[in-house]
Amino acid sequence: LKILVIHGVNLNFLGTREPKIYGSLTLEDINKKIKDRASEHDFEIEIFQSNHEGEIVDKIQSHFQNSDYLVINPAAFTHYSIAIRDAILATGIKTIEVHLSNVHSREEFRRKSVIADIAVGQIAGFSYYGYIMALDYIKESCVK
Ligand code: DQA
Repeated sequence: LKILVIHGVNLNFLGTREPKIYGSLTLEDINKKIKDRASEHDFEIEIFQSNHEGEIVDKIQSHFQNSDYLVINPAAFTHYSIAIRDAILATGIKTIEVHLSNVHSREEFRRKSVIADIAVGQIAGFSYYGYIMALDYIKESCVK
């Protein structure tokens, strides 16, 4: 299976960014954990990070035919990017939404996701392990 992993805006700052909320792992550390699990599952994986909404839309548009699943932490784009929502709808790519923090226990505005209702599901609050859960779910659901 081919999996596209996308990290949205500000996630390149993980490790130093609000460590009490997001932990001390860098994005590179997290990507290594994602790659390790992907190789255990024999998944082909591509990982992309961008601070630019349009670049994320471009990535989804250009890769959906080569990808069986999108695992995305849209970060702040989660809460307002109709463009990313529409790219997911336009391509029909199966999507799992991941958040490091529990977005439901923070500011009210983080509870709203414009992606969650068109996703297979949302995983939030389990730190980097949310990405691992997403990969394990994909493996499990494809074995059946
Ligand atoms: C986040 C939660 C978002 O509300 C926030 O804007 C982020 C990170 C998370 O992974 O917990 O940048 O998506």
